[in-house]
Amino acid sequence: MLNRLEPQSPDALLALIKLHAADDRPDKIDLGVGVYRTGDGATPVFGAIKAAEQRLVDTQDSKSYLGPEGDMGFVNALMPYIFGSDATMGGRIAGMQTPGGTGAVRLAVALAQKAGMTRLHMGTPSWPNHAQILSDIDMSWTPFDHANPDGTANLDAVLAAIRGAGQGEGVLLHGCCHNPTGIDYSADDWDAIGDAVAQTGVFPIIDVAYQGLGAGLDEDAAGFRSLLAKVPEAFIAYSCDKNFGMYRDRVGAFYIMTNTGADGAETLDKAFTNANALARASWSMPPDHGAAAVRLILRDSDMTAQWSDELDQMRTRMRQVRARLAEAGVTGSVDLTPLGTQNGLFSVLPVSTEQVAQLRGDHGIYMAGSGRINIAGLTMDNIDKFIAAIADVTG
Ligand code: LMR
Repeated sequence: MLNRLEPQSPDALLALIKLHAADDRPDKIDLGVGVYRTGDGATPVFGAIKAAEQRLVDTQDSKSYLGPEGDMGFVNALMPYIFGSDATMGGRIAGMQTPGGTGAVRLAVALAQKAGMTRLHMGTPSWPNHAQILSDIDMSWTPFDHANPDGTANLDAVLAAIRGAGQGEGVLLHGCCHNPTGIDYSADDWDAIGDAVAQTGVFPIIDVAYQGLGAGLDEDAAGFRSLLAKVPEAFIAYSCDKNFGMYRDRVGAFYIMTNTGADGAETLDKAFTNANALARASWSMPPDHGAAAVRLILRDSDMTAQWSDELDQMRTRMRQVRARLAEAGVTGSVDLTPLGTQNGLFSVLPVSTEQVAQLRGDHGIYMAGSGRINIAGLTMDNIDKFIAAIADVTG
């Protein structure tokens, strides 16, 4: 029976980790998978996480089951960061813990499908795993252009997709720090998108995987909060893997927002019990450790301050790298200027797959075939080499 299976190529992004590890050139540069790196190229555990993990070791008295919703203390502690001071938006929001942001996106799409969604509109390029999840769940999707060639967000395309969507269709939006382009919607764009979603009844699914890595925790949430304030219902998929550096611990959450009508509370309860049942059938319960550590941090003002400082340092370093790239301006045939105003871990360079291969072969620079680079892979020690290599392969 198993012989009937078609072989699958490894995930292209994750394959880069092994390719980079096998390269023995000392000055190789890893701009592949999205993990933060310090100026020394390390991805250390946050100090706040170390402290929380120590407290967990000292105080956790049981590892008995919690249930498909996971650690609700964690889920609730995150809500003010995501939704603002009225963290439940008047009792309209319920959430549950998921295995990473991927688990949250998967749960959002599966629940939407169960509720009758037949198609999702998605700006491209997007995180490659979005399309893989949709295909695996069998959710049809239609692409629209996320970005204009000049490095700005294509507002007309997202509005046309929303206005052209049929009954029972949804739109997948990146909350901030767009992966892979780094190109976010402006406040005015979010306003217009919120109006269009409210007018058409298209169902929004918002993927928030990088809060705090763009302009700040509140700043990165302002756009999608303005949309949520206008629309009747939404799903939010959230990841702590980057902003708490929890990558392999898989710390995520899924939130449901329902309407303000008389049946709002009943709808929220129905949606939540369905999400719970889907989680039970998919992974039964999410892994506890990372979420418990995040809960401890968010419930302790000293640890919260430490975490927030560490996040500020990450963001500041990435802004410095972006500023240095922007300063380089036109390099070979690539204009690096727009990278200065883009956000988060990623940007996409207009390079061909052959040029990506040449950067790897000739210069030991590893990036996704799409031309996506992880900004945090650049340091003040290797950035000149990178800029010179871009000039070399595109000049
Ligand atoms: C990335 O896009 O590199 C990250 O989100 C890691 C992943 O799971 O793909």
